[in-house]
Amino acid sequence: MADPQEILSQRVQSALGAAFGADHAETDPVIRPSQFADYQANVALPLAKRLGRKPRDVAAEVVARLDLADVCREVEISGPGFINMTLRDDWVAAQAQAVLADPRLGVPRPPSQTVPIDYSAPNVAKEMHVGHLRTTVVGDALARTLEFLGHDVIRQNHIGDWGTPFGMLIEHLLEVGEDSADAGLLKTDPNAFYQAAKAKFDASEDFAARSRKRVVALQGGDTDTLRLWQELIDLSKIYFNKIYTKLDVTLTDADLAGESTYNDALAEVCDALEDSGIAVLSEGALCVFLDGFTGREGKPVPLIVRKSDGGYNYATTDLATVRHRVDDLGADRIIYVVGAPQATHFQMMWATARAAGWLPPRVETVHVQIGNVLGSDGKILRTRSGQPIRLMALLDEAVERAQKVVDTNRPDLDDATRAAIAHDVGIGAVKYADLSVSHDTEYVFDFDRMLALTGNTGPYLQYATARIKSIFRTGGIDPQDAAGPIAVTEPAERALALALLGFGPTVAQVGEVLEPHRLCGYLFDLAQAFTAFYEHCPVLAAGDPAVRDSRLALTAATLRTLVQGLDLLGVRSPDQM
Ligand code: ARG
Repeated sequence: MADPQEILSQRVQSALGAAFGADHAETDPVIRPSQFADYQANVALPLAKRLGRKPRDVAAEVVARLDLADVCREVEISGPGFINMTLRDDWVAAQAQAVLADPRLGVPRPPSQTVPIDYSAPNVAKEMHVGHLRTTVVGDALARTLEFLGHDVIRQNHIGDWGTPFGMLIEHLLEVGEDSADAGLLKTDPNAFYQAAKAKFDASEDFAARSRKRVVALQGGDTDTLRLWQELIDLSKIYFNKIYTKLDVTLTDADLAGESTYNDALAEVCDALEDSGIAVLSEGALCVFLDGFTGREGKPVPLIVRKSDGGYNYATTDLATVRHRVDDLGADRIIYVVGAPQATHFQMMWATARAAGWLPPRVETVHVQIGNVLGSDGKILRTRSGQPIRLMALLDEAVERAQKVVDTNRPDLDDATRAAIAHDVGIGAVKYADLSVSHDTEYVFDFDRMLALTGNTGPYLQYATARIKSIFRTGGIDPQDAAGPIAVTEPAERALALALLGFGPTVAQVGEVLEPHRLCGYLFDLAQAFTAFYEHCPVLAAGDPAVRDSRLALTAATLRTLVQGLDLLGVRSPDQM
């Protein structure tokens, strides 16, 4: 099966080559969907400028050499020199049939790469906030999508499990007692535990002094201190896993590779940078000065890899992490799904790694920048009293709100079924809200909007999917058996068939540009194309058996595409709603 845009592109390129010589066979034909035809090639306008000729003449020469009889029913020049192309109905139908027959629904398998993907990465020693929820959701959708495309995806949860705050956390743990309810907070509300420790640290000079000593003991490898540290990590893991399970995220303990994992490599990272002259001592700190990174008044801003007190930094750990991902994991492409404010950190850290030869040119690094999640006041989402949001409470509220709707709409279902639907819809709504806007923009967290059954929301797509499943249930037909053949005659059938061809190219594109919102937009358009089709074209009630078979096949292909697409986003498709 084929991506129409790709086929038209190739054909127009060969016509360009035939008309204007091999030099032009690589020119971008600028193919776009059009409201006057299925697609439009706009290449004649820029090309005419370069050749010093009239665009319409250039377009005419291209069209004269354009061999599209098997694909298009009509090719015509319009306006100043646009080439309008309308696909043949039988071609569209045959391609849709091929999508239906393909277990991958037209999703290609690009050359496989090894792709460590760094996402979620909450901090044990700081608060876990809604931003972490978003990197978790976006990262997981990317991991699922890349995996489906056939890449070797290695999830890396770079949790913040090391650093100076552990001194106060350990002291606090000792004071409240390891088996106390206060310590238990780590499993349910770690922010509260963190803040209690911080309050003591700020209020008591004595506690602060003990905390600082504790950091030294931790770094020195003191056994008791390490055991308490491990206890903090283990309790936090319980919390993280609860969130991941609730969110239906694919991360497991096997994906944990926190900052502490790299402790033993840090000294060596610094030595290597110093020996090669990439890092220099400045006021006692080991610093890397890079071209192009300057602060106020053009003063160079260094990347500090070892502080003057001998302690290492976030950057040092990340440099060791790069080496691990390249040398041990065999990365071709390293993806970091992390908050947008860390962009400069990554730029400087990668530039340093490149200079040191740890990041060879063949390895690509990408920062998928995550924008903030805001409250209705336009500030970072917090509780009304200004406290950080308890993530679990947020997710529970989403499910509770969905539960109310399901209880009202589906009194016919038993409690367990309703609860399962409410979970899928509530969580799906929160995740889809994170995914459907471009990942680097901020958005306002709004339960009413994300749970709405209309518009580009998770529940709308889940509802569309459930409705299609009910068509098959009503007809007593297994979607697997709806094999066509597909024929398109009605405009709404044709539009739906054409929409189905877009899945493969969209998923491939998401794998390249790492923007899940494009898949959301595609699925939303597909669901709308289905709605229009279903309004105009009776399916089960179609009189002619051949028409019914064709429409059932289109319906089955839509269902599989929606379910697969939502699955790549990490959103479940309930059977009924
Ligand atoms: N723990 C960090 C934070 O919460 C994110 C870590 C991202 N990954 C990395 N390799 N630096 O901001």
